[in-house]
Amino acid sequence: MTAEYKVLGDVAVITMANPPVNGLGLSTRTGITDGLSRALEDAAVKAIVITGAGKAFSGGADIKEFGTPKALQDPNLLSVILALEASTKPIVAAIHSVCMGGGLELALGCHYRVAAPGTSVALPEVKLGLLPGAGGTQRLPRVLGVETALNMIVSGEAVKSEMLAALPNQKLFDKLTASPESLFDEAIEFARSVAGKDGELPLVRKLPCKHPQGDAYFQFARNMVGGMSKNYPAPLKCVDAVQAATQMKFDEGMAEERRLFTALMFTPESLALRHLFMAERAASRIPDVPEDTPQRTIKSVGVIGAGTMGGGISMNFLNAGIPVKILEMKQEALDRGIATIRKNYEAQVKKGKLKADKYEQRMALLSTTLDYNDLKDADLIIEAVFEELGVKEKVFKELDRVAKPGAILASNTSTLDVDKIAAFTQRPQDVVGMHFFSPANVMKLLEVVRGKETAKDVLATVMGVAKKIKKTAVVSGVCDGFIGNRMIEQYSRQAGFLLDEGATPQQVDKAIEKFGFAMGPFRMGDLAGNDIGWAIRKRRAVEHPDMKYSRTADKLCELGRFGQKTGAGWYDYQAGKRDAIPSELVNKMIEDHRKELGITPRKISDEEIVQRLVYALVNEGAHILEDGIASKSGDIDMVYLTGYGFPIWRGGPMHYANQVGLYNVAEAMKRFARNPHDDASFWQPAPLIRKLVAEGKQFG
Ligand code: 3HC
Ligand code: NAI
Repeated sequence: MTAEYKVLGDVAVITMANPPVNGLGLSTRTGITDGLSRALEDAAVKAIVITGAGKAFSGGADIKEFGTPKALQDPNLLSVILALEASTKPIVAAIHSVCMGGGLELALGCHYRVAAPGTSVALPEVKLGLLPGAGGTQRLPRVLGVETALNMIVSGEAVKSEMLAALPNQKLFDKLTASPESLFDEAIEFARSVAGKDGELPLVRKLPCKHPQGDAYFQFARNMVGGMSKNYPAPLKCVDAVQAATQMKFDEGMAEERRLFTALMFTPESLALRHLFMAERAASRIPDVPEDTPQRTIKSVGVIGAGTMGGGISMNFLNAGIPVKILEMKQEALDRGIATIRKNYEAQVKKGKLKADKYEQRMALLSTTLDYNDLKDADLIIEAVFEELGVKEKVFKELDRVAKPGAILASNTSTLDVDKIAAFTQRPQDVVGMHFFSPANVMKLLEVVRGKETAKDVLATVMGVAKKIKKTAVVSGVCDGFIGNRMIEQYSRQAGFLLDEGATPQQVDKAIEKFGFAMGPFRMGDLAGNDIGWAIRKRRAVEHPDMKYSRTADKLCELGRFGQKTGAGWYDYQAGKRDAIPSELVNKMIEDHRKELGITPRKISDEEIVQRLVYALVNEGAHILEDGIASKSGDIDMVYLTGYGFPIWRGGPMHYANQVGLYNVAEAMKRFARNPHDDASFWQPAPLIRKLVAEGKQFG
């Protein structure tokens, strides 16, 4: 059992003790009901306090238990709460640090609630595609009023206990303690003060629940919420559940909440969001790097190159309060880079996203130099110069000369071999890839590229740094394109074949955008610059002369149509505008190319487009797992969700393939392999997929 029981004179204390956040798994639930029975049987006990050990009161239902038999096993959370309500001795919840989801619902089932200031209070189930399923939608409106409660339930956002305690007429907290430290003593004292009281014990369920505007308010709420939660069913169901609290008797409202909760539990959106929650946290764990690996101290950062990436990378550290020194070859380049950083911050100030004094504080942390010797004290140096091995060689030799022992030397290269870069130094163990995505101050993803000699404490440190600068870091081995770009190449190749076979850029973009991608491959190409892919294809043509690919994109570049920056790409663009207008010229170019290839165009369904693009990611993802470039499929999903605009509600390509069923995915691949205009060898399902299908398993 993961709840402790002790008696302090006439007060029994039940302490949930299920680290890290006292999730209400079976053993904790059993511990609570067991403690309650002991307290009720002990005549010396006059009142009961429930609290949580460590860093939380409770983070709610144990998410790891969802979908397992344990989640349903008695005592379930609802029956625990009913048992608390039925207690003949007063129960006081002593709330601190984190009180969320089922944890808050449990507290609402107690007779009294004493909270420490600074506690994060939330019903965050909606972020997992759910709604509160243990009375939260029925009890919270009764103690906070319908509007405040509905806002909390629909947004899932945490509110500090002192703010809630200050609300007029709130009945959530009976007492806010003087400090977090005094919580325990004050809760015991409070319990003693209510122990001898006459009359019925107060229950939240008995409080009234009404909104003055009645159903009209809920119609308004539904309009607001519906507009904001297009691909997610849960927020609207939250509105339904809270409305039920205002229309039905308490127990009927509870039954309605349960019905809605159970239905949401099995939606693909909830499965995807729960997968995302776990995958995000698992990404920071590296199988052979223990979590207690000591980290190096990072108090100052050097950045080489003040271009597109160098500037954005620097901003991340400035935002986190870490001083940055940027090095360039020429003063003009430095001036340009600094001006861009200023411009970005000024835009944020203008939009009200950043206070003017914060902006100045950040800029004060920034310094510049033209001299490598000025980087001798930097703890971490990140290189973001031109993508040429020769240039990187010069830079890393200089860094090796000046950097202090133990400094971490990182490269932001997107395509070059990190092991080769490490070999330019006498300290390959200190070299690592830090592959930021553009715009680097905005994009969440950071691929941490582990060279064959990268030291474990360097990896641990970089993962820690990533957390500080609020990035989602995923470790990748060394290979061409790392995880994300290696996969996107296969996706782009399919997009090209689809044009050759009869689709238009707008049809392909529309189909995959309808699936949920933020942007289709052709609009994306126009935004990023089609010349980037062209340069990569030229290099690949030398390295892999047999690689089959559509020449259409090369023809587009030969016309100088590099995308938005040249005013024309796969689409036409009007001056100063970003709207993609289908181009007759491009469509004619595609048709002519088809004729040259002797292909009779066919009608391609949106379903085929989506399958070919997404399954191309899946097959390459499986190879990446086999090659040990990614250590788990969840890491691949995180790369795609945070760096490539894969629809969040589908959980990433590998999770999505699990949902479709790997058997079905493999069968589709075999079908595509029979298409004479595609690449049959690519579409052989990766051995890992074949193995998983044979064993009836999924990507794990
Ligand atoms: N169940 C199980 N494990 C949980 C958990 C939960 N509810 N909440 C957090 N954890 C685990 C995480 O998986 C992580 O584990 P790991 O160290 O093994 O990776 C660990 O706790 C720490 O989590 P964070 O890294 O997120 O730590 P933070 O200190 O940054 O945040 C937190 C703590 C605010 C509690 C945050 O984890 C959080 O928001 N958790 C989700 C809370 C939630 O959604 N609760 C609702 C659950 S559903 C429910 O209650 C249904 C009910 O209505 C019936
Ligand atoms: P950029 O051309 O905008 O900036 C490069 C900067 O490096 C220039 O300001 C240049 O003056 C400076 N520089 C060149 N050689 C130097 C040297 N020897 N010493 C000091 N400064 C030097 O290039 P960008 O786009 O910022 O790319 C930089 C690196 O980041 C490349 O390795 C690129 O592959 C990688 N990258 C680029 C992404 C993008 O979308 N632009 C995304 C992810 C990685």
